[in-house]
Amino acid sequence: MAQLVISTHKKGPTIAREIYGHFSEHLGRCIYEGLWVGEDSAIPNIQGYRKDVLEALKKIKIPVLRWPGGCFADEYHWKDGIGPYANRKRMINTHWGGVVENNHFGTHEFLELCELLECEPYICGNLGSGTVQEMSEWVEYITFEGESPMANWRRSNGREKPWRLPYFGVGNENWGCGGNMRAEYYADLYRRYQTYVRQYGPNPIYKIACGPAGDDYHWTEVLMREAGRFMQGLSLHYYTVPGGWAKKNSATQFSEDDWYETMQKALYMEQLVQRHSTIMDRYDPEGKVGLIVDEWGTWYEVEPGTNPGFLYQQNTLRDALVAAIHLNIFNNHAGRVKMANIAQLVNVLQAPLLTEGAKLVKTPTYHVFDMYQVHQGATLLDSYVEGPVLEWNGEKVPALTVSASQQNDGTIHITVANLHAKEAVPLTIALESSPLRLCTGTILTAPSLQAHNTFQQPNAVVPTEYKDIRFSGNSLTVSLPAHSVVLLKVEVE
Ligand code: AHR
Repeated sequence: MAQLVISTHKKGPTIAREIYGHFSEHLGRCIYEGLWVGEDSAIPNIQGYRKDVLEALKKIKIPVLRWPGGCFADEYHWKDGIGPYANRKRMINTHWGGVVENNHFGTHEFLELCELLECEPYICGNLGSGTVQEMSEWVEYITFEGESPMANWRRSNGREKPWRLPYFGVGNENWGCGGNMRAEYYADLYRRYQTYVRQYGPNPIYKIACGPAGDDYHWTEVLMREAGRFMQGLSLHYYTVPGGWAKKNSATQFSEDDWYETMQKALYMEQLVQRHSTIMDRYDPEGKVGLIVDEWGTWYEVEPGTNPGFLYQQNTLRDALVAAIHLNIFNNHAGRVKMANIAQLVNVLQAPLLTEGAKLVKTPTYHVFDMYQVHQGATLLDSYVEGPVLEWNGEKVPALTVSASQQNDGTIHITVANLHAKEAVPLTIALESSPLRLCTGTILTAPSLQAHNTFQQPNAVVPTEYKDIRFSGNSLTVSLPAHSVVLLKVEVE
């Protein structure tokens, strides 16, 4: 019998809502078709944004949206994407499929989308191929209230009031597609560019420096040492790529070995967060700089017959487990992890939503975000789990991943996933608290590991009520079915 102990006496940090953030890039069908169809489209829309997508995102309380990239960000020149559509530059999206980008979705369209979604905008600026002046003027255009060339230009484009710009990234993957820089060189450029990301109004801008790729601890060391005092956040990118970059898995046709390899690679995020945090602790013992995991998720072969540059992949129960693993890790490190953004929102990589014409599919990943939204803004509770260890091909993976939090009214939420491909795991949960009054549950699982939602069968994998719960006094007993994600809601007296 596996054991989980949850301490309700020692309160942890607040779980930033932004941990449940998303990322949307000008890549494949994420922006165009996925989010934006234009006002003249036959697809139901509000001011050009897909109505079904807006509704789905509001339901999961999307807290923050990153845009315009990704690699696209360091080639994006924001002035191409404002003013009358007819005058907007048509350019080539060199990174992603070589297609024409008509710039119809630009600064105004992005910021108005965030207003409709009631989520925070996070814009990533162009350090790789843009100038300091260009970056500085973008911030002025968006946030300056008074009289200035950029603010006047904004007004002439129809927006009187400035927008709030809470998060700004100073470049993306500048060790790779954003300029192939060394950490030392980027640290200096970061210091220079960020100087001109001015705060015009009363609202501070949280500046995020480009952080490491996966386990590049040297990058974190150099950035924290040379530029730590000029940033509020340092990003981290890590993708779960079963099979490796040269021989990626299919999203839907995979073996049990692939399943376990995927779980193991997703769990590696724990080590990354711990080790980067240890370096950050040395330079920033007060924990002022947030670790911003602004790209994470699975990366498979694209769906057969689709443009390889569009990164369109299906999403199975395996992705739901990967999402559960990551979100539990981020919750458990809420002291340092202040935002995370799954890649990407619609039709790209581990997407919560897929579209085809007017049809929309909510993927298993979407349903995990839906179940886990109860953690947004709640207080992290210390949890300790001891469960079976899965062994495959000489490798080991823990069977269970857990996090727990408490809301202001005392309600406790526990999210636990059983990574075992075949076996259920019985679990007792001891809560150091007053006696339990009520416990209800929700489960996401399916008969096969490869189960997924399609446009023909959109409800093959959906959350259902979980009833296999017994409780007495301060403890609960549950049996977690194989390959499942479970949410428990516990009310205490
Ligand atoms: O999310 C797809 C790409 O992955 C992003 O553009 C880039 O930042 C990363 O390498």
